[in-house]
Amino acid sequence: MRAAILTLSDKGSRGERTDESGPALAAWLAERGVSTVQSSVIPDEFEQIVNILTEWADGDIADLILTTGGTGVSPRDITPEATLQVVERLIPGLGELMRLKSLEKTVMAPLSRAVAGIRNQSLIINLPGSPRAALENLEAVWPTIGHAVEKIRGSQEDCGDRFSK
Ligand code: MTE
Repeated sequence: MRAAILTLSDKGSRGERTDESGPALAAWLAERGVSTVQSSVIPDEFEQIVNILTEWADGDIADLILTTGGTGVSPRDITPEATLQVVERLIPGLGELMRLKSLEKTVMAPLSRAVAGIRNQSLIINLPGSPRAALENLEAVWPTIGHAVEKIRGSQEDCGDRFSK
């Protein structure tokens, strides 16, 4: 599986803050055999986010595109809105699952407005901005990702009771 990571941070994009979440996500993925083929740090600017996500998905550079940051409720937090503009199909359950699992970690879990969806053949998932929150949220949905990527890429394999508990 190939991953691409987009960090949304005004300060990070100006070099006023080191991006810790992008590298933490890449290291976490590498431990699971997933290579990060592209990463970028850009400001919380709607058009820029839409453009880069569209470019990555339409160029089919990665199976999984993770964003980190900008999911909250501050005035500049617009990652979910930009992502909604980009995706062709939504997967509401991934956002629901991230918030459900995150409630075990923090009462602030509902403040992440993260969304997930599909454009072209890429699965795009929003994660919160802090390294800890980003990893906790990715961990929450990780069991579904391999199968999601297979299905998005057209696997005809019958799910049947393969994933029953
Ligand atoms: N989810 C988990 N698992 N762990 C966290 O620490 N932080 C919350 C929430 N979700 C958090 C979390 C907080 S405090 C905020 S404000 C939102 O994510 C949005 O984060 P963002 O604006 O950095 O994207």
